[in-house]
This record gives sequence, structure tokens and C-alpha cells, in this order.
Amino acid sequence: MYMENNITFTMIKPDAMENGHAGEILSIIIKSGFYISALKLVSLSKKQAKIFYNIHRTKPFFDELVEFMTRCPIIVAVLKKKNAVEDFRQLIGSTNPDEAKNGTIRKLFASSMGENSIHGSDSNENARVESSFFFAGSEIF
Ligand code: GTP
Ligand code: MG
Repeated sequence: MYMENNITFTMIKPDAMENGHAGEILSIIIKSGFYISALKLVSLSKKQAKIFYNIHRTKPFFDELVEFMTRCPIIVAVLKKKNAVEDFRQLIGSTNPDEAKNGTIRKLFASSMGENSIHGSDSNENARVESSFFFAGSEIF
């Protein structure tokens, strides 16, 4: 399972859940060659959101980010593909949807820098840390 560069972790964020885009986003992910290794619906607590985004704790948008991520249940998933982290960051597009390339998930569905529809791990190490934050090893296939 945890072999080098073949997994990434994603979250379908509250804006996409509320706007009814979860199914379409999962469809794009699967059609782009990612295999779903684990998936569930979770309602993040404030504490969990703060731990997950701990790296951003000193940023001016931190409180807004925690409020946003805890607004409604979200889908979390582990995805498998060769070169998963890099390929998935390409598929989701830039953090700011205005700068995201045409055809990327953020270009298609995101409305702002804060409410940008989807998360993707930024390194192989973080893919492993983030996956194990939400899933036991026995839940990842
Ligand atoms: P993630 O995949 O969610 O980690 O996004 P990213 O790697 O493209 O961006 P980054 O890790 O720098 O920021 C994490 C998240 O914080 C973003 O996806 C946004 O939801 C939020 N964020 C980043 N910058 C801003 C900002 O300027 N304002 C607000 N409100 N939120 C921001
Ligand atoms: Mg990030």
C-alpha cells in the first residue's frame, strides 16, 4: 500500500459538498486514472481541522479555514496511481481558482481561494501522514 509515490490523500471540501458537486468530482478523479483505496464521509471537529491544517496556524486565514472545513460533512479518500501526488495536484489545479488551468477541478467548481472545493496532498510524506490521520491501515485497500 504505502509504496513510495503511488498514493495521495484528498478531501472534497464543504463548498463542493453543499453545491452538489461531490459525485461529479469523484467521477473526474476515477476517469483520470485514480483508484479509490479508501473513502468515507466525515464531519471534522474544530480540533481535527486545526491539527490537519496545523502548518497554517499562524496565517491570517487560519480561523476562516477551520470554520469553513467544519461547516458540513466532507468526503475524505486515499487515491492510488503511479505518481499520485504530482498527477493529482495537476488535476485539481492552483489553490486560487482564478489561476487554475481550464479543465482542472478547481477551475470547474471552486469559487475562491478559501472555498476551493478540493484538497490534494503536497508530498509523498504528507500523503502518508494525512491518510493515516483518517484511516486505519486495514481500511486502505
Ligand atoms: P490544500 O490542498 O487544501 O492544502 O490547498 P493548497 O495546497 O493548494 O493550498 P495551501 O496548502 O497553501 O492552503 C491550504 C488551504 O487554505 C487552501 O486550500 C485554502 O482552502 C486555504 N487558503 C489558502 N490561502 C488562503 C487565503 O488567502 N484565504 C483563505 N480564506 N483561505 C486560504
Ligand atoms: Mg496544501
